[in-house]
Amino acid sequence: MDGGGGTRRGRTTAEIGTALAILHEQHGEVRDLLERVPRTSDVERQDAFDALRELLASHETAEELVLRPTGRRTGLRVVAAARDGEERQIAGLLAELERLDVDSGEFDGIFATLAETLTMHTWLEETEEFPALQTRWSDQQQERLGDWIRRALALGPTHPHPLAAGSSVAQWTVGPFTALMDQARDRFEQAREPGGSGPPSARTTDENR
Ligand SMILES: [Fe+2]
Ligand SMILES: [Fe+2]
Repeated sequence: MDGGGGTRRGRTTAEIGTALAILHEQHGEVRDLLERVPRTSDVERQDAFDALRELLASHETAEELVLRPTGRRTGLRVVAAARDGEERQIAGLLAELERLDVDSGEFDGIFATLAETLTMHTWLEETEEFPALQTRWSDQQQERLGDWIRRALALGPTHPHPLAAGSSVAQWTVGPFTALMDQARDRFEQAREPGGSGPPSARTTDENR
């Protein structure tokens, strides 16, 4: 599998990769933003925090709809439940942070906990869950699931990435994480079967394992 972050003929993994490659690449983006938030302040920090929340909403929704149904039905129920629990904890921390001034000491403390929790969570996914799912899907299934994720991401907000050169800040108002998750789920459902010939639903994806 492409471990994520690589390019082929100038295109990024997110444009060409399988489901697991895309999710792996997003983990790198999450780590970049976790490092960026503490290094910045004021509108730049708010922008990085908003970008992190948007990214996590799409990412965790992809895992919820694309990965976990297969895991639960193929012997990974305990692993899936553990990851779901961590994601609920992460959502709770984000909800706490959303109520705070990003330049407050309280924000710093809770954000440090979020960074630690997310770092462990993504590591467990990469070392336990992704490799196990890699063996449960054919290459073709992974490509089709990657197409599903790509279509859903293409429907998402076009928040300028704060790591991109020349990106502007303080231009976007981003709602609470729970609302971002609802919006992301809607996009994944909308992207599920475009024209009636999309990838298999989460319910049937794992029937071809
Ligand atoms: Fe996750
Ligand atoms: Fe993840």
